[in-house]
Amino acid sequence: MNVAQNIVFNTVDNLLITCYWKYKNEWCFLFYIFVGGIVITFKMNKQILVTGGTGYIGSHTVVELINEGYETIIVDDLSNSSAEVLENIQKITGTMPAFEQFNLTDKVKVEELFVKYPNIEAIIHFAASKAVGESVQKPLLYYQNNLVSLINLLECQIKYGVANIVFSSSCTVYGQPNILPVTELTPRKDAESPYGNTKRVNEDILKDTIAANSKLKGIALRYFNPVGAHPTALIGELPLGVPQNLVPFITQTAAGLRDELKVFGDKYDTPDGSAIRDYINVVDLAKAHVVAIDRLLSGKNKANYEIFNLGTGNGVSVLEIVNSFEKSTGVKLNYKIVDKRVGDIEKIWADTTYANEELGWKSETSLEDTLLSAWKWEKKVRGIK
Ligand code: UD1
Repeated sequence: MNVAQNIVFNTVDNLLITCYWKYKNEWCFLFYIFVGGIVITFKMNKQILVTGGTGYIGSHTVVELINEGYETIIVDDLSNSSAEVLENIQKITGTMPAFEQFNLTDKVKVEELFVKYPNIEAIIHFAASKAVGESVQKPLLYYQNNLVSLINLLECQIKYGVANIVFSSSCTVYGQPNILPVTELTPRKDAESPYGNTKRVNEDILKDTIAANSKLKGIALRYFNPVGAHPTALIGELPLGVPQNLVPFITQTAAGLRDELKVFGDKYDTPDGSAIRDYINVVDLAKAHVVAIDRLLSGKNKANYEIFNLGTGNGVSVLEIVNSFEKSTGVKLNYKIVDKRVGDIEKIWADTTYANEELGWKSETSLEDTLLSAWKWEKKVRGIK
């Protein structure tokens, strides 16, 4: 293996030799300690703190980070995920990530975390409440949880000198755009829900904090509609109660947990009348986070605060998703058309040019393979052969 890129040796009193290099994306530190003729070797990869790391997108990202040689520390309060995810990450990668269970609104615990792990190089911040309907019912819960968590992290980043953060944002900040596809320069609109507003306000908190602190660098990733599961079917999306999102509702209907899928609206101004979204494979999405972390750690960022859209660039309607699911899995879906869902936008999909060219990242997985992975995961969870 070609490990000879960037080798630096330091010798301290002939006792300690430190060697570090970058092999592929694997940042390594080796410590050789000579004690009475015995060589003791320690290897340390770069540490990334992943908040919400046992959640849907977080867990897939932890897997990709480990695959690329990073060491991960997960913080999650397990309010919408389970500790079993950690074992499944270990089954996929062979590595058990470090794990701390608490809610990031607890400032004392956040401080303790930064003291316990002084070598964190970057943070990926997923942890947040994300149910749109619930956020309308309980706005203060959403503002409290989503805003205070980010504020606590940023305060500790400044205090403990952790320069880099990737923030999990959403295409929800664009509302219903006037022009499609949406680029990163498309103006944001007023949010449709408190949940959507927390994404918008958190982007502003990040931008303003970075502007005021020259040592901080951040990337906001605006996801379109993440779907699918890891190809091993060991991790995937596990909504609590009745799923609100389309693909989990489809797979639960196919598995017999739901009687029928309700297609929300067929009178939209789209070719088949159903609403259009940009469905992005969750593993492809996870890989974009590794690219964003590499970009920050290697100083390739063009500005201290950057924004990227993460989508496929393809708009797909609800009825096309239904057809594609039936075709790729061979399972017939029971569905009926009902009224449109309040708050839904008609159509949105990403212009991926900037992410493709500047980030050097592209979604790769076909919609059929993505829907198959979601089905494989659902069958695994329900014990269906
Ligand atoms: C929703 C949120 C978005 C959030 C994302 C998280 C709204 C308005 N937006 O996106 O802010 O970031 O979830 O994943 O809630 N559909 C059906 N039947 C169903 C479920 C959905 O027809 O049972 C349709 C919806 O009307 C929509 C499409 O499927 O047209 C996708 O819906 P969904 O998966 O809920 O995602 P978004 O609404 O796009």
